[in-house]
Amino acid sequence: MSDILKLKNLMWGYSKSKVLFTANNLKVFDYLKKPKSAKSLASKLDTDLRATTILLDALTALEFLQKDEDFRYVNSPFAMEYLISSSPLYQGDIISHSDTLWKNWSGLDEIMKTGKPYRSARNHDSFIRAMHNISIIKVKDVIDCIDLTGVKLAIDIGGGPGTYTIELAKRGVETTLFDRADTIVIAKEFVKKSRRKNVKYIEGDFTTDSFGGKYDLAFISQVFHSYSVKESLTLIRKIKKALNKNGIIAIQEFLIEDNLASPLDGAMFAVNMLVNSDNGRCYSVNEMSSWLKKCGFSDVTVKHVNDSVIVCARLS
Ligand SMILES: C[S@@+](CC[C@H](N)C(=O)[O-])C[C@H]1O[C@@H](n2cnc3c(N)ncnc32)[C@H](O)[C@@H]1O
Repeated sequence: MSDILKLKNLMWGYSKSKVLFTANNLKVFDYLKKPKSAKSLASKLDTDLRATTILLDALTALEFLQKDEDFRYVNSPFAMEYLISSSPLYQGDIISHSDTLWKNWSGLDEIMKTGKPYRSARNHDSFIRAMHNISIIKVKDVIDCIDLTGVKLAIDIGGGPGTYTIELAKRGVETTLFDRADTIVIAKEFVKKSRRKNVKYIEGDFTTDSFGGKYDLAFISQVFHSYSVKESLTLIRKIKKALNKNGIIAIQEFLIEDNLASPLDGAMFAVNMLVNSDNGRCYSVNEMSSWLKKCGFSDVTVKHVNDSVIVCARLS
């Protein structure tokens, strides 16, 4: 691709995102499991016919839909797998979360002056369900990265919707999900659906509240990126106190290299944390390993799953 085409794609990138967000908000994909005309869909959705036709053609160009010779639209196989709400691999909540964060990203110019987050929009429910959308695709591979030999009790710190808690519980590990009260309500729904019985809950703020006992494993996924180095070190010291002898800490974070500027997704996620948190950013494997060693952990191992790293270490 020529450099000027790359620039064009970048500057108009938002148009493609917004077409997807609007289709997702209207639940277009749920209605297009079978072919329908624009007129029939507009009538179902109670939307303007011209607007609906133009949106459906754009979704066809994006290959989320297919259009037949009678001008009827139907989901592509990709949309059937990821964009209809009944699919186990549904990604609509993370799309909706991204749409919410768009409003916060629009404050980036201002953030450059203040250095403070720009939290103009928040939708806690779609944020937590979004975490399930991301995790469900890789949960087995992530948990496979942890040596569960002898692990009977685990704590999932900032466990969100409980996707990792459920996988640990499936593998016979009694797991306590620690998170804020409004998140635990959603986690309970997912755990109930999974029919796992060996799950406990602690509602609280991990910066101030107790972890409630001793564990063989502390799993902490996608949490440190919201906090500063100092806050992360304080949390690791607290986790250490909640671990049994030879206990394991397992951290999952998005990958960023030591230069903090690649890969592109990691560098962009760091901006997301600038926009949405007081002190967060992405941390490299070497930064996280050095925290663990500083806090008295050893046997650090690093594994990669998709765009994430899983850093494990043991209490010596
Ligand atoms: C990005 S989500 C990750 C959820 C889950 N661990 C995963 O990887 O799918 C971060 C989670 O940490 C929780 N969290 C952040 N700060 C917290 C705090 N101080 N006390 C308790 N939970 C916290 C949030 O409520 C949220 O559920």
